[in-house]
Amino acid sequence: MEIVPLSDAVGAEIRGVDLRESLSAKTFDQIEKAFHDFAIVLLRDQDITLEQQKIFALKFGELGSRNRPGTKPNELDEYGEHVMLVTNVRENGKPIGSLPDGEMTFHADTAYFEFPSKATMLYAMELPTWGGNTLFSNCYTAAEHLPENLKRRLDGQKAMQVYEYGTTLKTKERYDRKNFPHYAHPVFREHPASGRSALFVSELMTEEIIGIPKAESDEILQKLFTHQKKSQFVYEHEWRVGDLVMWDNRCTIHARTDFPRDQRRMLRRLTIQDNNPVVEGAVPYAQAAAE
Ligand SMILES: [Fe+2]
Repeated sequence: MEIVPLSDAVGAEIRGVDLRESLSAKTFDQIEKAFHDFAIVLLRDQDITLEQQKIFALKFGELGSRNRPGTKPNELDEYGEHVMLVTNVRENGKPIGSLPDGEMTFHADTAYFEFPSKATMLYAMELPTWGGNTLFSNCYTAAEHLPENLKRRLDGQKAMQVYEYGTTLKTKERYDRKNFPHYAHPVFREHPASGRSALFVSELMTEEIIGIPKAESDEILQKLFTHQKKSQFVYEHEWRVGDLVMWDNRCTIHARTDFPRDQRRMLRRLTIQDNNPVVEGAVPYAQAAAE
């Protein structure tokens, strides 16, 4: 097995693993270590069934439910409760999956729940000729590179995470908190495996910093969102059919670039549930200053 960094910002490609075959404990340990070290892992040229994808995902923990609260069993499609098809493919004019078209703003999956997903695994099945890239931003290094005065201001604070289902771009001043799940999590989140602090906010889902006056909270959030998009923290993934990417929702955020509506794009998504609550992290140590 070979582990090759994808960029200076975040992520690594794992080469020499075929997910159709059962993995030895040693191989899995190496993959898990790379996942913790690099926050995103890519395995290319995989040709796997849903069952094989599930077997791999289950090694990292329990599968997360894709269900929105209140989903009735008869509303589930043939793929069942754990699988989300991220696709613009339509049948009879209706999208058969979720998040069908276009650009999508930075977010962490299910940050609006008390127990957000630990990881998300996407497997590329059909892709357009251009676009639909996934941008990943490293929330560890983004936290570490914040100005010291901002770190101190955010020390111990919580931010409200809200998401209106179906929303892919932030176009509203305020989300409909009453009718959608929302949860306040620490701004600096400690990763249980690495012990590092990550900046746990995102443009699509973070509405306010609790206990800070609205004007100041808005100003700080705008600064944080701009900061997270800096190229030094971001890796842009250009998908190839057969790519399997797993990212850590505890220390990365992701966004999607635009793509043509009239071309098919289909990825099969599983999430891995986290049973640990989000724990407050220390003010991140300034690695840049120390180096
Ligand atoms: Fe997402």
